[in-house]
Amino acid sequence: MDIESLIRPNIRRLKPYRSARQEYTSGILLDANENAFGSAITFDGLELNRYPDPSQKHLRSRIAQLNDVEPESIFVGVGSDEVIDLLIRIFCEPRSDSVLVLEPTYGVYRVAADINDVKVNSCLLKDDFQIDPGEVRRKADASTKLLFCCSPNNPTGNLLRRDDILALCATASAVVVVDEAYFDYAQTESLISAISQYPNLVVLRTLSKAWGLAAIRLGYAVAHPLIVSYLMKAKAPYNINILTSVEALKALEQTAHVQKSVKATIAERKRLTRQLELIRCVKEVFPSDSNFLLVRVTDAHGIHQQLAQRGIIVRDRSTEPKLSGCIRISIGTPEQNDILLTALRELTA
Ligand SMILES: Cc1ncc(COP(=O)(O)O)c(C=O)c1O
Repeated sequence: MDIESLIRPNIRRLKPYRSARQEYTSGILLDANENAFGSAITFDGLELNRYPDPSQKHLRSRIAQLNDVEPESIFVGVGSDEVIDLLIRIFCEPRSDSVLVLEPTYGVYRVAADINDVKVNSCLLKDDFQIDPGEVRRKADASTKLLFCCSPNNPTGNLLRRDDILALCATASAVVVVDEAYFDYAQTESLISAISQYPNLVVLRTLSKAWGLAAIRLGYAVAHPLIVSYLMKAKAPYNINILTSVEALKALEQTAHVQKSVKATIAERKRLTRQLELIRCVKEVFPSDSNFLLVRVTDAHGIHQQLAQRGIIVRDRSTEPKLSGCIRISIGTPEQNDILLTALRELTA
C-alpha cells in the first residue's frame, strides 16, 4: 500500500519549521531568543531557560528499545490525545475526508475529527463488542482515511480480536489506528509486532495508565518511519517539555513497578467483578481486559448520582450506543473498592 498517497497533499508539500535546537545544542547559544540569564527556578539541575530537544532523541530511543523497534518508528506526543489529533491533521482533508470509529468507544476520536472539520462515520460493534467486518466494509468508503480501533476498548473493556484487526489492515485502503492505551492490563500480544508487515498500521500507547503518569502527559505512536516522519513535520516544534522527558526517562526504567501495579489492578478487577455480581442493583458485569469495569445496573443515572453524593465518582455511560443502563468503574485500591461496594450494597438495601 502506498501510504504516502494517503497523506494530505499540503502536508506532503510542507516545508517544516526548523527550530534552533535542531541545529545546535551546545556552545554560546544566541540563536533562539532564550533568556541567557536563566530562570528563577531549577529542576533536577536542568537549564530550564533552554528549549528542549525537538526530536526527543533519548526518549524515543528508550521507548523504541522497550518495544523492540527502531527509534524512527516512534513518535511522542502530549498524551496519545495529541497523536490522535495529529493523525487526523496529516491524513484527513477537512470537509472531504472521513474517519471511521467503532462505537461505543473512546470519545476523543470523534471530537478530534469534529474539531478538524473531518466527517465521522460510525460503525457499531457487535453485541459482544467485537468488530463487525461486514459493517466496516459497508461504512468505509473512498473518503475514509483513518479507522480507529481501541483495544482493549474504552468503555467496554474488552480486547478486539487480533485477526479482525489484521484483516482490516490487509483489506482497508486506509490507516488502521489501534489504540492500546490499556494494553498492559490485557496480557496479550501487542499489535506492535505487526507494524513491519502492515505499513498502514499505527499503534498508540500512553504512560497515563499502567505507568501511572497521567499528569506528565506523554503518549506515543509506533508506526512505519514514513508516517512518523510526517507526524514529526506537522507537530509543534517543542511539543514535549523537558520536565516530562526527564521524568518519563526515569520512570521507564521502573518496569518492575508497572508489573506490580498491573498485577494489583488485575487482582482487584477479579475481586470487584465477583463482589459486584452479588449486589442487587447490578445486572451484568462485562468481562474486562482493562483497568475498569463496564457494569449494567438497574438505574445508571440514579446510581451515578447517589454515589457522587457520597463522594464516589464513576462514569455514567448509559447514553452511549448499546450501553443503556451502563456505568464505567475504574479499578481503585482495595480500600476504595471496599467503600464503593459498601455504598452500592447500601443503595439497594
Ligand atoms: C482509549 C484511550 N486512548 C487514549 C486516552 C488518552 O490518553 P492520554 O492520557 O495519553 O492522552 C484515553 C484516556 O482515557 C483512552 O481511554
